[in-house]
Amino acid sequence: MKRIESPSDLQALREGILFKRDPDQKVVRVCCTTACRAGGALHVVEALRKGLGDRGLSDKIQIKKTGCRGFCENGPVVAVEPEQLFYNKVKPRDVPDIIDKTLVGGDPVERLLYADPDTKEKIAKEHDIPFFGKQARHVFAKTGRIDPTQIDDYIAEGGYTALCTALTTMAPGQIIRAVEVSGLRGRGGGGFPTGKKWRTCRQAPGMVKYVIANGDEGDPGAFMDRSLMEGDPHSILEGMIIGAYAIGAHEGFIYVRDEYPIAVEHLTIAIDQAAAYGLLGFNILGSGFDLTIRINRGGGAFVCGESTALMNSLEGKVGEPRAKYVHTVESGLWNRPSALNNVETWANIPLIINRGAERYAQIGTAGSKGTKIFSLVGKVRNTGLVEVPMGISLREIVYDIGGGIRKGKRLKAVQTGGPSGGCIPSGKIDMPVDYDSLKALGAIMGSGGMIVMDENTCMVDVAKYFIGFLMYESCGKCVPCREGLKQMHHILSGICEGHGKAEDIELLTRLSVTMSDASLCALGGTAPNPVLSTIRYFRDEYEAHIFDRRCRAGVCRNLFEYYIDETLCNGCTVCSMKCPEGAISGEKKQPHTIDVGRCIRCGVCYTLCKREAVRVR
Ligand SMILES: Cc1cc2nc3c(=O)[nH]c(=O)nc-3n(C[C@H](O)[C@H](O)[C@H](O)COP(=O)(O)O)c2cc1C
Repeated sequence: MKRIESPSDLQALREGILFKRDPDQKVVRVCCTTACRAGGALHVVEALRKGLGDRGLSDKIQIKKTGCRGFCENGPVVAVEPEQLFYNKVKPRDVPDIIDKTLVGGDPVERLLYADPDTKEKIAKEHDIPFFGKQARHVFAKTGRIDPTQIDDYIAEGGYTALCTALTTMAPGQIIRAVEVSGLRGRGGGGFPTGKKWRTCRQAPGMVKYVIANGDEGDPGAFMDRSLMEGDPHSILEGMIIGAYAIGAHEGFIYVRDEYPIAVEHLTIAIDQAAAYGLLGFNILGSGFDLTIRINRGGGAFVCGESTALMNSLEGKVGEPRAKYVHTVESGLWNRPSALNNVETWANIPLIINRGAERYAQIGTAGSKGTKIFSLVGKVRNTGLVEVPMGISLREIVYDIGGGIRKGKRLKAVQTGGPSGGCIPSGKIDMPVDYDSLKALGAIMGSGGMIVMDENTCMVDVAKYFIGFLMYESCGKCVPCREGLKQMHHILSGICEGHGKAEDIELLTRLSVTMSDASLCALGGTAPNPVLSTIRYFRDEYEAHIFDRRCRAGVCRNLFEYYIDETLCNGCTVCSMKCPEGAISGEKKQPHTIDVGRCIRCGVCYTLCKREAVRVR
């Protein structure tokens, strides 16, 4: 690889890459990141390679293994260009049809197209599918298009232009000013203004400073950072190099959890390729600026995403937080000034430099600029990754993008912000999604987890689940968090098991206040959010559990029983055959009954009954 010494070298390289490409060549893009791989995407690629080879088409049609397009629910997904056809749930056995009908014949394979769940109408093009319609894919623009293991792909799509602009035309102070003007706030949880963090770090005394990317992503159900690292690692590197130059750092670290092997692999390749081109290492782009970036693999503890715990872990110590009376921008990794940002925050930096801070700031609300990537999961029809402009309403995300609630059920709540986030009730879903509105509702943006819950969700059980997660993940260093979470979990378990006491709600609230005030780090400080938000919006459910011994959602096993509605049961016998306790009896084609004494309320019959004859009492 020839070193890129100047902006004109980069321009020449880009033109050379584009010149070699045939604009009319067909390209088949197969998402090969974790979810689609789990669905067999690599076998689809193999089948495509073989099929094209057998037909002598290998030189004429290009196969690209790309990052995530977000529609993980429907993976493995395959896009065919220039026709812009979008195929869902592709299996290796579909490949002959894709080659013969689409790539050779020019016609779509109807059965692989997305079908509107209501009208059953087939939709051929990606941008016509409602899931993509209201999204604004800026950070994710290249993910799903480029092969993340090929730096030339990134460069061909305009990659490293921002780095050239920053290093050759801007002073560090100008870059920091641009990030301030852009209004970018950290995408990792707290929403701290990124420009302000960088300025403090630059001004902090000391010759040695560090930039760090947080790719720990410990929130259950969240996978946006993983997708970004897997699908577009260079955008993170480019942001980090610009940031390091602005701050005056010459060493950088990317902290990735060990459970993300593809992310580690792609980041490693990206670092090697960038270094080979001279975009990392000594005298980057002939500017005199040097930077090395290394990857560190975290053991998967949720608390290691917290800034001081992460830095302890990077230093090889136990991943425990410390009190932050001195901020990490002044004394962080090895007591040096350190700028830690979430990987999505870093990936926003090239956009700000390329577009200009003012233009970047046109997207979003007054206090929350740009876009945000959410992992939309739970009882919504279309689960996956969505990138939306800040300020969009929850309703648009859940209904227009997510396609509404599964099985025609009613929306009950949306949980945002990971385990320490809050539950927003369905009545508030017209509120804009931005840092300040979510906070006002008792929730947080967090790093972008969004769990949709339907009418069959018990909100006390939800609070118990998140408190249980945090209890296991608490490092135990400080008493309020260690003991507070244990006590909260004990009280919530009691309520769910039917032993709730009248004073429990008040006790939970008091514990929450103490934990928020006295915990060492934000794990304990924000842990009460799921409890407080469910008490605030679903107090009646707590009261029903405590005073009436009732769980209306039919989740808390001690508080309900199943029965079979005779008018709906047609005696298909599926429930009696699958009941693990033999608690269901009845003649074939005759209504069945449940022996309440033997039933363990496992819910198998409830889930399996297609006629919804199994009811909750
Ligand atoms: C318990 C805990 C876990 C966290 N986990 C993450 C994480 O996985 N990724 C992340 O970027 N930030 C995480 N954070 C927030 C970080 O401490 C820090 O604020 C963030 O990385 C700063 O980057 P930003 O300003 O770009 O958001 C966590 C915070 C806490 C308290």
